Amino acid sequence: MLLRVTLLLCLVLFLVGCGQIAEPPLPTLDVLLVPPEAVPTTAFTDPVLIEGQRNYDLYCAHCHGYEGAGQLQESIQQTLDLGMMTVPAHDSTGHTWMHPDQLLIRTVRQGIQNPLAQFPMPAFGAAFTDDQILGMFAYIRLWWTPEQRQHQRRLTWRWTAMQAAQTSN
Ligand code: HEC
Repeated sequence: MLLRVTLLLCLVLFLVGCGQIAEPPLPTLDVLLVPPEAVPTTAFTDPVLIEGQRNYDLYCAHCHGYEGAGQLQESIQQTLDLGMMTVPAHDSTGHTWMHPDQLLIRTVRQGIQNPLAQFPMPAFGAAFTDDQILGMFAYIRLWWTPEQRQHQRRLTWRWTAMQAAQTSN
């Protein structure tokens, strides 16, 4: 009897184990991570900013913070106690403004599979168009200083010029 119970337990543990190592499904837009009614109403009139804020609040804010300040305070200590990396800020204290649009779009599409991150950056794949991604960064850009905005714009121009030079060769 004991042997049978032990064997059954082993089988259950094996099956659970199999489930855990299975590849996680890619996130899709119909699985909303935040209920739409929880998204704060916006005071913007610009449709790009309205959509940008809405998408940011639905798909990014629970990790990067509703004001872009990074991982929510409540869980930071737990992440550090595990010796893992917290989610970075997108506001002026972060480094989002140090990357050109082209790389920001690529990051959202490809995600960042970092084993040190407790809440790794998901790959959003083709869930958003380039314009929708840029709309989220148009909203994020509002948290940067004028100098940071200008720096990021310059990086984006430089990448555009570099890519144009590469394709004309
Ligand atoms: C599950 C949590 C999570 C979600 C959801 C998430 N991110 Fe991230 N994101 C991270 C983590 C963690 C990193 C840091 C990865 C690293 O550097 O190893 C990161 C990094 C980034 C970076 C690169 C760092 C920077 O500031 O330039 C960008 C850009 C970014 N995320 C944008 C977004 C956008 C836009 C969304 C929503 C569409 C989003 N993220 C949703 C966790 C998340």
